[in-house]
Amino acid sequence: MWHYVVISIEFVFILYPGVCLGIEVRQSPSEFITKVGSKVEIFCSHEKTDYRVILWYQQQPGDTAMKLIGHLYFKDDKYEEQYKDHFNITGDLSGNTAKNVSLIVKVAQKEHSAVYYCAARQAQ
Ligand SMILES: *[C@@H]1O[C@H](CO)[C@@H](O)[C@H](O)[C@H]1NC(C)=O
Ligand SMILES: *[C@@H]1O[C@H](CO)[C@@H](O)[C@H](O)[C@H]1NC(C)=O
Repeated sequence: MWHYVVISIEFVFILYPGVCLGIEVRQSPSEFITKVGSKVEIFCSHEKTDYRVILWYQQQPGDTAMKLIGHLYFKDDKYEEQYKDHFNITGDLSGNTAKNVSLIVKVAQKEHSAVYYCAARQAQ
């Protein structure tokens, strides 16, 4: 019997001190199903060249809370304690170019079935 993990990436918001800006952010793929045990990599990209922080959140089915997984600040990745063994955030936000950051689920488990959100903001 196969076990599957459903990953979906649906909505993105840009945080600018207290304001939500409607700039376009692409995330790909937007939804897919994978097998338990596989490595998953999802991307979030945008063209705000001066936004040097990207945060990734997880919202599990049946839960309204968006939990912070971790963030990338320029090139430094930081994780919340409960996520640090299972996720990796990679990218480089230091250049003056379009941004493209990935979230890797190292070994997908059923509890990783969730909606993942990425948020970008300026470094303070
Ligand atoms: C994430 O991946 C990078 C590059 O492979 C590695 O240097 C870093 O230690 C990893 N971080 C975690 C938390 O696994
Ligand atoms: C982001 O990087 C990945 C891996 O290099 C690539 O496949 C993807 O097309 C890039 N996305 C954008 C919008 O550049």
